[in-house]
Amino acid sequence: MLTTPTFSTVRSEISGLCIKDLVSEFGTPLYVYDQSVIDKRIDDLSAFDRIRYAQKANSNLAILDRMRRKGVVVDAVSAGEIRRAMAAGFSTDPTKHEIIYTADIFDHEALKLVLEHHLPVNCGSPDMIGQIGSQRPGAEITLRINPGFGHGHSQKTNTGGEQSKHGIWHEQVDQCLIDADHHGLMVSGLHMHIGSGTDLEHLSAVCESMEKTALKVGRTLRTISAGGGLPVPYKSDETYVDLDQYFALWDATRNRLGETFGHRLDLEIEPGRYLSAEAGFLIAEVRSVKKVGKNLFALVDAGFNDMARPVMYGAHHPISVCGAKGDVSSRESVDVIIGGPLCESGDIFTQREGGFVESRSLPMPFVGDFITIENAGAYGFVMASNYNSKTRAAEVLIENGKAKLIRQRETFDDLIRGEQIPEIG
Ligand code: LLP
Repeated sequence: MLTTPTFSTVRSEISGLCIKDLVSEFGTPLYVYDQSVIDKRIDDLSAFDRIRYAQKANSNLAILDRMRRKGVVVDAVSAGEIRRAMAAGFSTDPTKHEIIYTADIFDHEALKLVLEHHLPVNCGSPDMIGQIGSQRPGAEITLRINPGFGHGHSQKTNTGGEQSKHGIWHEQVDQCLIDADHHGLMVSGLHMHIGSGTDLEHLSAVCESMEKTALKVGRTLRTISAGGGLPVPYKSDETYVDLDQYFALWDATRNRLGETFGHRLDLEIEPGRYLSAEAGFLIAEVRSVKKVGKNLFALVDAGFNDMARPVMYGAHHPISVCGAKGDVSSRESVDVIIGGPLCESGDIFTQREGGFVESRSLPMPFVGDFITIENAGAYGFVMASNYNSKTRAAEVLIENGKAKLIRQRETFDDLIRGEQIPEIG
């Protein structure tokens, strides 16, 4: 089992490249990804028959391209994600199943694309069965089941149980099979995803539910998907899931079903965070250091418009300091609150769920230093916005010791594209 990394509060380089050099070439705020970390994480999961990357975690075309070259396939939760997958070179050949549309609804654009490219569909709501069945009778579909329980790092990332809008409720499977029959659809796969950032105990409970549901569906099944949800440690007291144990549980489930059905089932996994989180770093420059009563604030030029996880979930990210002039290791440690530039008090990177501000013990930061928010490669840039009319950051990929721009920093023209002032009258 992988051991939790030690998170240092001092960092002057990423994958061998000096943070100051990266900043002088690309500016701040800057997302930097280390391809070697993504490659390692893909290799960790090689026991599974298919790794289906949940691209919502980080869908930059370059990242998708590199995933594809490593034999990873993708899911798509929207028309935009279908188009991204195609732009990154994933095949729409229906026999290859490289892109699966998996969502709880079809909006009109997504349904049109799915039909146009004959993409496989994972139905997360009973209504989707008739919507695809009436247009593509005889097709194969897979069903996403809500097993009646879920778990995530936050209530907002728990995708199972009665409070969740996701998936087909487990008690409605029989009716869905009747609906599928009615349209001549064949149910060839089952999928369960109970939440994001969960743990082995909850993930393992899914196997039992999968087995029960699979026996209802019967011999048409060819694939089962364990979903995503694998956690990564964001703090030194958090751990990885024991992947050998996790795989063994799913493998045993798949084998038992295979024996019952008389054919082998493929076992898929659908991680987002696990593949990209630890590869990503958000670098920002310190622009103000000030005392507010007893509290010390360091305000940087990235905000929750760049990285929303702390304000949305009270998520903790490791944070390190890089001195503008020399090493910071000998500086005294201070308790400091790290905030951004936005006109909103929730714009704080060091907060717990509920918006309570927390300080972090870091080497004393000064204006001009750099702060790196680590483990920022999943649900970082993809959740960025233009709030406060901030342009979105640039993204860079480090590969074989070289830093390559994979997304230009937005400009003011990007910001107002599409807006128009109508004539009066
Ligand atoms: N499959 C399905 C159907 C999903 O809904 C998700 C995540 C995944 C796979 C990938 O889950 P992962 O392996 O990354 O845990 N913005 C939140 C996470 C939301 C996850 C949404 N669905 C965060 O920043 O923690």
